[in-house]
Amino acid sequence: MQKVLMVCLGNICRSPLAEGILQSKVSPEKVFVDSAGTAAYHIGNKPDKRSINVSAKYGIDISNQRARKFSVKDFDEFDIIYVMDQSNYNHLLLLARNDLDIHKVQLILNETYPNQQRNVPDPYYGRSSGFEKVYSMLDEACENILKKI
Ligand code: 4NP
Repeated sequence: MQKVLMVCLGNICRSPLAEGILQSKVSPEKVFVDSAGTAAYHIGNKPDKRSINVSAKYGIDISNQRARKFSVKDFDEFDIIYVMDQSNYNHLLLLARNDLDIHKVQLILNETYPNQQRNVPDPYYGRSSGFEKVYSMLDEACENILKKI
């Protein structure tokens, strides 16, 4: 069983989408997917309505997800930890205890654009078109993840 964790800041916009999208592409017996945020602002909350709506449009229901905060234990639990942007990356690097932890953390868009260190833009303060863009970026990245797991 491969375990993949998706991480963003609030765990209500980007990482819930990444979780739902990857989950929709894998078989649950082979791959476990979860998500978490580096911040505590939204613990226990549902994903942002705009994330729920954009994923529903593509047949994916993420409304049962609830936000949680990343915990150092997640380094033990998960094989790979995909972060949405450089700020999430820096945050997890501060929490990493050793090289094994560090190597588990990858920028998700490096799966589409290797070594380019691109960020999934934070759509929270923007318009709903931003959520469409994020959805398609994450869908493409998850297709690439699928090829290697
Ligand atoms: P996310 O987006 O990291 O993609 O879930 C955000 C959600 C909430 C906030 C920032 C980003 N916030 O400041 O509350």
